[in-house]
Amino acid sequence: MPNAFRVAPGGSLSGSIRVPGDKSISHRSIMLGALADGVTHVTGFLEGADAISTMNVFRALGVKIEGPESGRVVVHGVGRDGLRPSATPLDCGNAGTAMRLLIGLLSGQGFESTLIGDESLTNRPMRRVTDPLAQMGAKFETRDGKPPVRIHAATGLKGIDYQMPMASAQVKSAVLLAGLYAQGETSVSEPAPTRDHTERMLAGFGVQLVRNGATVSLQGGQRLKATDIDVPADISSAAFFLVGASIAQGSDLLLEHVGINPTRTGILDILKLMGADIELLNAREVGGEPVADLRVRSAPLRGIEVPRDLVPLAIDEFPVLFVAAACASGRTVVTGAEELRVKESDRIAVMADGLKALGVSALPTPDGMIIEGRHGPGPVFSGGQIDSHGDHRIAMAFAMASLRASASVLIRDTLNVATSFPGFDRLAARAGLQIELVDA
Ligand code: S3P
Repeated sequence: MPNAFRVAPGGSLSGSIRVPGDKSISHRSIMLGALADGVTHVTGFLEGADAISTMNVFRALGVKIEGPESGRVVVHGVGRDGLRPSATPLDCGNAGTAMRLLIGLLSGQGFESTLIGDESLTNRPMRRVTDPLAQMGAKFETRDGKPPVRIHAATGLKGIDYQMPMASAQVKSAVLLAGLYAQGETSVSEPAPTRDHTERMLAGFGVQLVRNGATVSLQGGQRLKATDIDVPADISSAAFFLVGASIAQGSDLLLEHVGINPTRTGILDILKLMGADIELLNAREVGGEPVADLRVRSAPLRGIEVPRDLVPLAIDEFPVLFVAAACASGRTVVTGAEELRVKESDRIAVMADGLKALGVSALPTPDGMIIEGRHGPGPVFSGGQIDSHGDHRIAMAFAMASLRASASVLIRDTLNVATSFPGFDRLAARAGLQIELVDA
């Protein structure tokens, strides 16, 4: 399998494409489907390595799951107390969402589990979930707060009222999933809104939740009833094309059936503040999640100070937003984004290094970046080589930068693109990116 992208400079993006299914919703469809009474049918499932890791973990926990086949998955729920211990460690691969949500869900089970991951995941912090879960009565062993994570058999969790120190949907979800197994009420308050797919999907499975301002609560002991789930296209994957078409002159691209849950649309708001030309067409609701087709045409972008309240709503989109900023007139300043340092890579450091390698003035700060955009119709980036550090979103962000480069860009260590966006190179080529897979 070739492990690098070579992207020729220039070109534009056009036509009509559907990017793969939403990663956050795909993970949750397996988890909640497995815990439900009855059979859950999923369509539009992300057939990427991360969601497949979650699927394989639940198979190891005794759940029968059919597929994926053309985005279709059938989950034969075992009920809230039907999971069985796995004889082997549960491998979450590259997927932080899988591991953090599983830590919550498994800490309520009457058996022991061990969670492992790949090299990147093995270096990511897990105390943010084990700390509140320990307050609920769960017991863990970790390697100084990092995976592998051994979860002891639960001896009775109790509900807590947890004020999250950081805006994290993974932490919120882990505590809520443990709360299903806890005595009494579990409440989580967030310092800023984060994606609410867990809450929406739990409600779809018949669980009663109460949202009161920044706090969401549920009572332990509730059962889930199987339902059908239509997974929209992932706005985080669409983001690469929203930026690519914005920065490449002559582009006019339609992105079909994209999830536009308001806790995920920070990318649209930020790009619009920068002057992007994005139209929402045919807005509709599908299975509890809002969806639309997005038409994007190239437009001159301007640098902005990114409003801090939009940061958690666009947290996965910053790699490609930094590329947009490099193509904007004037300076872009991002603050309040320190969470980027603990993603699949340190996305502040790795993006700043890559931008500098392509001749852009990018100053990393502890919680963001200052980028001096280059105005005008000509190339913004030089050609060159980028090390993606195995981070899927870094690799795809720099692939889009090539649209405004003066020479070809070689992006190394791209195999993990398949964690969230299998077939990225083919779909991007169809839209007009001059991308080829190479060994490097
Ligand atoms: C996710 C939450 C976010 C996001 C990740 C997916 C989720 O992480 O970055 O890609 O599905 O809940 P945090 O909870 O760490 O912000």
